[in-house]
Amino acid sequence: MSMTEEAPRVIERPTLAAAGGDSASAASPAPQSAQAVFESRDVNVYYGSFRAVRDVTFDVPRNQIMALIGPSGCGKSTVLRCYNRMNDLIKEARVTGTISYRGADLYHERVDPVEVRRRIGMVFQKPNPFPKSIYDNVAYGPRVAGQKKGLDDVVENSLRKAALWEEVNDRLKDSALGLSGGQQQRLCIARAIAVDPDVLLMDEPCSALDPIATARIEDLMQEIKQDYTIMIVTHNMQQAARVSDTTAFFTADVRSENDTRTGILVEVDTTQKLFSNPSDERTENYVTGRFG
Ligand SMILES: Nc1ncnc2c1ncn2[C@@H]1O[C@H](COP(=O)(O)OP(=O)(O)OP(=O)(O)O)[C@@H](O)[C@H]1O
Ligand SMILES: [Mg+2]
Repeated sequence: MSMTEEAPRVIERPTLAAAGGDSASAASPAPQSAQAVFESRDVNVYYGSFRAVRDVTFDVPRNQIMALIGPSGCGKSTVLRCYNRMNDLIKEARVTGTISYRGADLYHERVDPVEVRRRIGMVFQKPNPFPKSIYDNVAYGPRVAGQKKGLDDVVENSLRKAALWEEVNDRLKDSALGLSGGQQQRLCIARAIAVDPDVLLMDEPCSALDPIATARIEDLMQEIKQDYTIMIVTHNMQQAARVSDTTAFFTADVRSENDTRTGILVEVDTTQKLFSNPSDERTENYVTGRFG
């Protein structure tokens, strides 16, 4: 049977609701926290002919926080972008191997990448609010999805979850660009959760923030992980140790003979084990600060 003849389990609402990913569906059972939300197998990512990451295989447990750590250039952002098909938007990028999301092939030709990005939201290192009001930023996703009623509630609830409501509720019509960097980042988190995603991908979300704003975002992650699965890239070892349940350590495999650097996954384990008693010497050197 060819790929086009078989009936794929595509990423669409009914399929996801049946899989337990739609909180609006009362019939769906509560997700099992030990289950994997993603399973990646032998994932390689190329930019043109350059292989940026090689043979990445691991599972991402549901309703937990997973940290992706490793030295600069080892492919953490590249790997993270695979999980909501953001690499599709980079012309020269190509992904091989398989990634399944709740049992469905994320890269199947009939999967709609726009729906993928609604279910699997992303927060970037640099806050990127739209040049719109605070309200319109948060309401943006629900509006695109066709929602007209109840937007006030969605905006308020999302801003509350992102620990920003108290600071902005008297100026919702003001431009988001007038907020501080930390507030903008929390606004971007509010915007990401306004569409009720299943997974939140965060690429160094606190790197531009002060310790107070960072602590707020870390608290927020703990609060929302019962509803979401979170993957966070961070260079901050303390942050990874503080917030995450599991950690994946990546490094760059350097081949001097042809001067190539390829990102590889060294090990994945519970955060406690990976930081206290890692299996691989390279991990130990990194987490103890002897390398990177
Ligand atoms: N759009 C792109 N085009 C070409 N090469 C890219 C592109 N994006 C990333 N790369 C290359 O892929 C490799 C991995 O980059 P990536 O940004 O994923 O690393 P990273 O681990 O996130 O690094 P950092 O910690 O500095 O953010 C690097 O060699 C980088 O130069
Ligand atoms: Mg990066």
